[in-house]
Amino acid sequence: MSQLYYPNKNKFQNSPIPDMESYRALVAKFDKDFEGTWAEFAKEKIDWFKPFDRVLDESEAPFYKWFSGGVMNVAHQCIDRHLATKKNKAAIIFEGDNGDKRTLTYQELANEVNKTANMFKNEFGITKGDRVVIYMPMIPEAAIVMLACAKIGAIHSVVFGGFSAEALRDRVIDAQAKLVVTADGAFRKGKPYMLKPVVDEALKEGCDSVEKVCVIARNNEDINWVDGRDVSYEELLAKQSLVCEAEPMESEDPLFLLYTSGSTGKPKGVQHSSAGYILWAQMTMEWVFDIKDNDTFWCTADVGWITGHTYIVYGPLAAGATTVMFEGVPTYPDAGRCWRMVEEYKINQFYTAPTAIRLLHKMGEDEPKKYDLSSLRVLGTVGEPIDPAAWKWYYEVVGNSECSIVDTYWQTETGGHVISPIAAATPIKPACATLPLPGIYAEVIEEDGTPTPVGEKGYMCITKPWPSMIRTIWGDPERFKKSYFGDCKKDGKPVYFSGDGAMVDEDGYITITGRTDDVINVSGHRLGTAELEAAIKKHPDIAAVAVVGMPHDIKGEGIFAYIVPKSEDIAPKEELQKAINELIKKEIGAIALTDEIAIVPDLPKTRSGKIMRRILRSIVKGEPITQDTSTLEDPSIVPTIEGIVGKRA
Ligand code: WT7
Repeated sequence: MSQLYYPNKNKFQNSPIPDMESYRALVAKFDKDFEGTWAEFAKEKIDWFKPFDRVLDESEAPFYKWFSGGVMNVAHQCIDRHLATKKNKAAIIFEGDNGDKRTLTYQELANEVNKTANMFKNEFGITKGDRVVIYMPMIPEAAIVMLACAKIGAIHSVVFGGFSAEALRDRVIDAQAKLVVTADGAFRKGKPYMLKPVVDEALKEGCDSVEKVCVIARNNEDINWVDGRDVSYEELLAKQSLVCEAEPMESEDPLFLLYTSGSTGKPKGVQHSSAGYILWAQMTMEWVFDIKDNDTFWCTADVGWITGHTYIVYGPLAAGATTVMFEGVPTYPDAGRCWRMVEEYKINQFYTAPTAIRLLHKMGEDEPKKYDLSSLRVLGTVGEPIDPAAWKWYYEVVGNSECSIVDTYWQTETGGHVISPIAAATPIKPACATLPLPGIYAEVIEEDGTPTPVGEKGYMCITKPWPSMIRTIWGDPERFKKSYFGDCKKDGKPVYFSGDGAMVDEDGYITITGRTDDVINVSGHRLGTAELEAAIKKHPDIAAVAVVGMPHDIKGEGIFAYIVPKSEDIAPKEELQKAINELIKKEIGAIALTDEIAIVPDLPKTRSGKIMRRILRSIVKGEPITQDTSTLEDPSIVPTIEGIVGKRA
């Protein structure tokens, strides 16, 4: 049994869930009165324009509805309601790649959001329910634009700035966006990079829904300008009024779409609600991160991912906290960048991904010791399983063995944390997400709902709905049902399956073992093998391809592609990999480049033509093949591929 690390009581006072007794009492309260307990929190936390009259409507399950009848507004919840008591408090502290700084108080943020909202409404005719695609760097305007959409009830869809023109185009078309908001570009590692040209390229085909492209100036590099379509944000902003009424939003009105990878080639537009989403974003800030009024919270994610939505923008602001936004990368100008920022801003909660922890550990093992990091109380990790070595360094060296580590397990679809330590309360075990949060019925089960025995791998499911859950896949409700409610049942009723495997130990602690589907997790980014394969297949000399994840020191998982050429007359391996990576860069983006390829004569296929990926995964890991290969069309292909890959220890 692994060692337990207890929260340092000196660091946690007046916490909402101060100990395990309170945790268990709250879990029991939900058990006893599920809807009543959620109703209590919703009433207490949300500033309703009109109270809700129903807590949970299951009549169209799995299309659950929460807090029906209620009217509110997320931008009001995050900004306006705080102005009476916090107008001069820092809402956003921004630091640029080059070290430039900017702070927006709650009042300044309110003003910027209102002007932007008025611009969208009055200049571009954006109204409630219209889709706005945001393709932006990590600058305060990214948050301002998201909140401006929320203020007028427009549905935003943020597309990560690392995605290619093709990927951006697919998302613009799927959402039928009326407006695209972007920047000329930004800075990374001391140099400017560009975004606007990617938007120009994306909008060349099939994006007829787009009426305007609103361009924010960040690096002031030269850009192409399409008259009539492109408009300057700064020029229009100056003319806008500071007053903008919050659009009254029903609880279930969509707040945003965020596209994520699934097991087919087409990304899914995960749709989130207004009230349920913001409620849980705020509650998890309070419970998991122990956010307090004077805290400075730093999440290093990009706003293009769900972590950036919930824990840079919506959660911290709903909680009335100060959130740090950082444009640059953790290793520029050196591996002490983050620790210097923690010292300078007196960061209290630092939240990042295992891939960054591994990188910072490798590049500057003793770097944290050069700085005063004593302001830290909570260290967070998210996105992939963290390995014990990285965990230990994070705990001992960064946290000086005094901070709680919250290994937060959740997904784009869950909106906020679902399994996580509570910083002030939960005794932690290295590299373990620990226990479900109160109100979340996360269970490791078999397909029929029976609990998986202790120590064995089962399906990571959530067996009751929760307020911040995905509502549907934009434009494809059938896919929503099939993707999440098609695999597991409890008491005969379909329940949410996450796509992850997990294991429970003798203390009831849950360890996530990773995806069970064809999704790979590269540096905490979710990529579908089908998407990668579709990009690679565009190569004229390639007959077939199978992509699998491979173990990688820094990224967690790397990308390995098995390539079957059309003829023996194929380019040498290095040259072919370069060509493949060019294709991926164009179709998806530079985050998805292959790490290794192997040119093989064929793939292991069953007689019905199904590719046996498990065998391919075992081969790159150098594991012995345990699967039955006798059902393969050609069993001799397995040793042939093993010989080519040559990973066997
Ligand atoms: C997938 C979701 C949630 C924000 C970042 C990623 C993996 C996430 C953990 C964790 C082990 C984790 C899962 C999950 N994952 N957090 N603490 N331990 N695995 O969001 O892109 O929707 O990916 O990330 O596999 O299904 P996402």
